[in-house]
Amino acid sequence: MPIDIVIGAQWGDEGKGRIVDLLSANTAMVARFNGGDNAGHTVTIGTDTYKLHLIPSGIIHPHTQAFLGAGMVINPESLLKEMDMLRSAGVTVDLGRLHISHTAHLITPGLKALDAAQEAALKEGRIGTTGRGIGPAYTAKASRSGLRMEDMLDPWLLQDKLDAHIAQVNERLTALGAVELDADAVCTDFDRFAAELMPYITDTAAMISDGLEAGQRLLAEGAQGTLLDIDCGTYPFVTSSTCTAAGVFSGLGIGLQPVDQVIGIVKAFQTRVGGGPFPTELSGELADRLRGTGENPWDEFGTTTGRPRRVGWLDGVLLRYAVRANGLNALALTKLDILSGLPTLRLCTAYRLDGQVYARPPFGISRLADCKPVYEDLPGWQEDVQNIRKFRDLPEAARVYLRRIEEIGGAPIRWVSVGPEREQVIETGH
Ligand code: IMP
Repeated sequence: MPIDIVIGAQWGDEGKGRIVDLLSANTAMVARFNGGDNAGHTVTIGTDTYKLHLIPSGIIHPHTQAFLGAGMVINPESLLKEMDMLRSAGVTVDLGRLHISHTAHLITPGLKALDAAQEAALKEGRIGTTGRGIGPAYTAKASRSGLRMEDMLDPWLLQDKLDAHIAQVNERLTALGAVELDADAVCTDFDRFAAELMPYITDTAAMISDGLEAGQRLLAEGAQGTLLDIDCGTYPFVTSSTCTAAGVFSGLGIGLQPVDQVIGIVKAFQTRVGGGPFPTELSGELADRLRGTGENPWDEFGTTTGRPRRVGWLDGVLLRYAVRANGLNALALTKLDILSGLPTLRLCTAYRLDGQVYARPPFGISRLADCKPVYEDLPGWQEDVQNIRKFRDLPEAARVYLRRIEEIGGAPIRWVSVGPEREQVIETGH
């Protein structure tokens, strides 16, 4: 079974990039199947930190083929910038290494402007989007009016489609009281984007299927997280794509087939950006302590937007839910080192709502918002764990914490990260 899937088990920002980096050392094909440049995947190698938004993190390994799948929505300007960033960091991003699905959808400045205007109009119930045009791009896709990568292969067709698209977007922007866009300027920019990206646009679904048939391994790299999934997440405070494991097959256009590891990435505590319920949310000094100051790339500030993340204790109810919704058969727990020095750690094992105790999230977003966490308190540890590489060398309290997460979540923790560097990972042997 040559497919591994990496999924965010929370609200995104779990540290998927580094686990993908680890696994892609033994993988021929790495692929993104959902989302767009709303994602921010950070990989630190020595003194170099790569912040990737669209290109699979596995591209950093020189032997990999990287794919941007059909389920993605791609801003060509961001993609070209990211390709340049990688090139200047010495990563080869040439033909034969990077492949873009011809059926992936395009994000235009019009869709970005609509995202901002729609959010502004929401006032109270704002989703807190990343402002990258993700929602409007998937809306256009579902309403069958979207532009696709393959449109960039025909310059005349592209200009016609862009003209019609910008005219349509401008009507909506005007209705929302926002500034209209200049269609000619957008067309000129896209002419250039098309010329630069054209050689990379291809039938990625066929290429990946052929690779799998030839016995090559595939690593599917999820963006965002289970609780932001359009169907399984905390709707409407979600992104607009399928972030769960099931999205891999439609998002890459490959047939349903057995998968080896479905790995859920779980942060040692919970974070969320944007609006929506968060039962274990913390505030005050402890929240500041977990979030960090923002001076380090691994502090809890958005990779894409720089926004401070909301933080809280690990929510076991939602972890159990993520294990079930994705069929996770392994977990990777990140940022264990951040908990060092806390006297007590809390794990949410159930919710209390209207006098009842729930082991599963109740349905209805307002009910989730009203849930009060039931906590189990565990002793913390004082030791710095950053230099530990063996599970048995971790402080007893850390091992107990990890074991309890496995029990509550219902899946084994196979990796634990204890620092931002590539080698700061413990293989647990579980
Ligand atoms: P959108 O994906 O920009 O439409 O944003 C919808 C919601 O998903 C907002 O709450 C965002 O903060 C959140 N979101 C989108 N992408 C990410 C991500 O990569 N990490 C964490 N949150 C995200």
